[in-house]
Amino acid sequence: MIRKAVLPVAGMGTRVLPATKVLPKELLPVVDKPLIQYAVEEAAEAGITEIVLVTAKGKDLLVDHFDRSPELERQLEERGKTDLLDIARSTCPRGVTITAVRQPAPLGLGHAVWCARPVVGDQPFAVLLPDDLILGRPGALKQMVDQWADTRGHLVAVENVPLEHVSRYGILDVVEERGQVARARGMVEKPRPEDAPSTLSVIGRYILDPVVFDVLERRQKGQGGEIQLTDAIAATIARVGLAGLRFQGTRYDCGTKAGYVAAIIDQALSHPDTAAAVYAHIQALNIRRAA
Ligand code: UTP
Repeated sequence: MIRKAVLPVAGMGTRVLPATKVLPKELLPVVDKPLIQYAVEEAAEAGITEIVLVTAKGKDLLVDHFDRSPELERQLEERGKTDLLDIARSTCPRGVTITAVRQPAPLGLGHAVWCARPVVGDQPFAVLLPDDLILGRPGALKQMVDQWADTRGHLVAVENVPLEHVSRYGILDVVEERGQVARARGMVEKPRPEDAPSTLSVIGRYILDPVVFDVLERRQKGQGGEIQLTDAIAATIARVGLAGLRFQGTRYDCGTKAGYVAAIIDQALSHPDTAAAVYAHIQALNIRRAA
């Protein structure tokens, strides 16, 4: 069973500056919930009971978000706002504990995951990158946990991207595709289009065998001078295997401005508090454009 999940949130978020100058990227809201809470809820739905946030200097607000807020709760209670009280109290899903470890310097995603090793221990674990928001039912990690029961080893979430975008992703070298599952013999971080073994790209959800820690421990730098998670996965495929799952759902790269705005529009069109007004607004925009 997969019970532990690592959420690396120590990156700088430079692509959405100035929003992230002070505010951690993972606290950016999509309608009314910050990205980090979507990821935590997705993990809880998948049966995760222990979440490790890998944070950095200036990111303590991320941990605060999951704490109780006695002053706020007292105020809401006094005013009889029970529905809001429930929302404020349930940022951390029931049955889930959230702890934090620090990444002392932004040495790369692989290094961030390695920093969680003392909490993860020697068991398979999940990794979720909260800036990859995936809206789907069931959640992407739940789909992966169900699949992992058959495949074991390393399992990553994948989707096809246009060839000209492969240099933004980890790309699988596929040996066999069966239904939604692609078995891979290799994985390359940010290849040039002419070098890419496929267009099947890794999205920010992983279930990993702890053998990756053996490689991450060596602190070898890869693409961009960073310690890459992709390299550690690729180096351990011979030992445990690697498969990619084409998940059901829509993924938004909220680490980019366009992806973040798309997530807000789509979520606003399905959220009961905003759907009607936002739909009317978009229709009015179309009329104005046509005129
Ligand atoms: P990104 O590649 O999106 O980097 O990291 P970033 O720093 O967050 O954003 P940009 O590129 O400057 O805009 C992917 C994930 O890995 C985490 C990030 O927090 C994000 O969840 N990460 C990255 C770390 O935790 N530590 C690192 O050293 C690097």
